[in-house]
Amino acid sequence: MSDQVLAEIKNLHTYFYLAEGVVRAVDGVDLTIKAGRTLGIVGESGCGKSITALSLMQLVPSPGKIEEGEITYYQTIHQTESASTSNVIEITKLKPNSREMRAIRGNQISMVFQEPMAAMLPVRTVGAQIMEAIMLHQQVNKVEARERAIDILARAKLPNADRIVDTYPFQLSGGMRQRALSCNPDILIADEPTTALDVTTEAQILDLMRELQREYNMAIMYITHNLGVIAEMAQEVAVMYMGKVVEQTDVASIFRNPLHPYTQALLRSIPQLDDVMARAGQKKRLETIKGMVPDPYSVLPGCSFHPRCPQFMEGVCNEVEPAVIEVEPGHIVRCHLYASRSTKARAN
Ligand SMILES: Nc1ncnc2c1ncn2[C@@H]1O[C@H](COP(=O)(O)OP(=O)(O)O)[C@@H](O)[C@H]1O
Ligand SMILES: [Mg+2]
Repeated sequence: MSDQVLAEIKNLHTYFYLAEGVVRAVDGVDLTIKAGRTLGIVGESGCGKSITALSLMQLVPSPGKIEEGEITYYQTIHQTESASTSNVIEITKLKPNSREMRAIRGNQISMVFQEPMAAMLPVRTVGAQIMEAIMLHQQVNKVEARERAIDILARAKLPNADRIVDTYPFQLSGGMRQRALSCNPDILIADEPTTALDVTTEAQILDLMRELQREYNMAIMYITHNLGVIAEMAQEVAVMYMGKVVEQTDVASIFRNPLHPYTQALLRSIPQLDDVMARAGQKKRLETIKGMVPDPYSVLPGCSFHPRCPQFMEGVCNEVEPAVIEVEPGHIVRCHLYASRSTKARAN
């Protein structure tokens, strides 16, 4: 069942109320997370990627707050090999520190952070954390769970897995922690997990994530500013700009047929993409995106990309907020250029 929906984010708004003004970090985001699939979230720094992920885990840092929207988690509890029940959990209705929310965070939705040290509970051994996840999903006793935990660590290419199982996260090096971390949740959120690592370790971590995904049908939300990594890891991509998803489609379409001028600019600005672009038949043309991301307190009328957009239309883009348009099935964009190309409009 690789298309099973595990989580749905609907109309999510997460704001920070600061003395300087309101930061609309996440401003109406819809995303669907499916078992066995990787959803890539891409965009420049500050566009709301991390806060979207932290909202899903109820870990928005103060003074941030989920203002509006729903996050539904479809939790599966395996009772025996063949029988399971499912629970529908409204994450936004749970208190961040409630037992239920902490249990979900510890076991079923976990996150590999930019700063890996913060990601594991420092007070419990690596083994205890993995065993708990295993026992929640599979009918095994402690001894078996421990063996499986050692096996998972060994396959994560950690030396002396039988010893690491009894260590605390702070006793491991950064790279080791990254590996130990990605063990066995339903949903793994990877927030620029390899930014601080060398390329060899990065390749190993990416391989490991793919392997664990195949084995456990894990869903991955992969956050990065690097479209090259997206091409390697994800099946579906959401491009974010100033708290909104401005384009979303499958990974092939984002490279072959990028619609939003922001996506097009991102693609042109990324050097690692030469190969990917060449394969997709696009010309190699490296440039930086014009202008800067506006300050986070500003609320721009119309499309928030309009001051930087090479295809800006006066009187439209700076006045009317673009609606979500489904240009072809499964390919959505928020841009006035496509106003006449909605599949819905065409169907009428
Ligand atoms: N703790 C915080 N306090 C105030 N503003 C924050 C905080 N964390 C994030 N923000 C703001 O929210 C916006 C989105 O941030 P973030 O999701 O971290 O971006 P990304 O992960 O895409 O780089 C940014 O404008 C950022 O400045
Ligand atoms: Mg971030």
